Amino acid sequence: MLGIQVPYTWHVSLSIGSSVTIRAKPMMSFSLDPQMQVGFHTEANEKSDIAFHFRVYFGIFVVINSLEGGSWKHEMKSSHMPFVDDQSFDLRMLVLHNEYQVVANGQHCYGFAHRLQPGCVKMMQIWRDVLLISVDVS
Ligand code: GAL
Repeated sequence: MLGIQVPYTWHVSLSIGSSVTIRAKPMMSFSLDPQMQVGFHTEANEKSDIAFHFRVYFGIFVVINSLEGGSWKHEMKSSHMPFVDDQSFDLRMLVLHNEYQVVANGQHCYGFAHRLQPGCVKMMQIWRDVLLISVDVS
């Protein structure tokens, strides 16, 4: 399947009501422990702080956190797993006034209260073991 090369990095500016929609498929079977990582960075460089870090360990759990002043903060972990082995998925990340809301395949799955204001996000990155089909920001 043709797709967008990962790591995929692009410049954004977010405001309340913005949403990022990712369509992707794990590159391999869950038995091989594929992962996906999405980062909302505060600078246009991948070493910068991260307002919203979303890392999927397919078939196992999801980790959400922020990186502030170069340090990981309190990690949120959820074993809610809407992703299905060998199937593509839609992942929508909505910027609400109080939190990022994550909707997977139409199902509200995770929330992450803002620690850094979404207005400070300048760059996004998606990477690890996924075939990236499309990314839309609205
Ligand atoms: C670490 C992991 C980082 C990040 C962090 C979140 O274990 O290496 O990529 O996910 O947890 O708390």
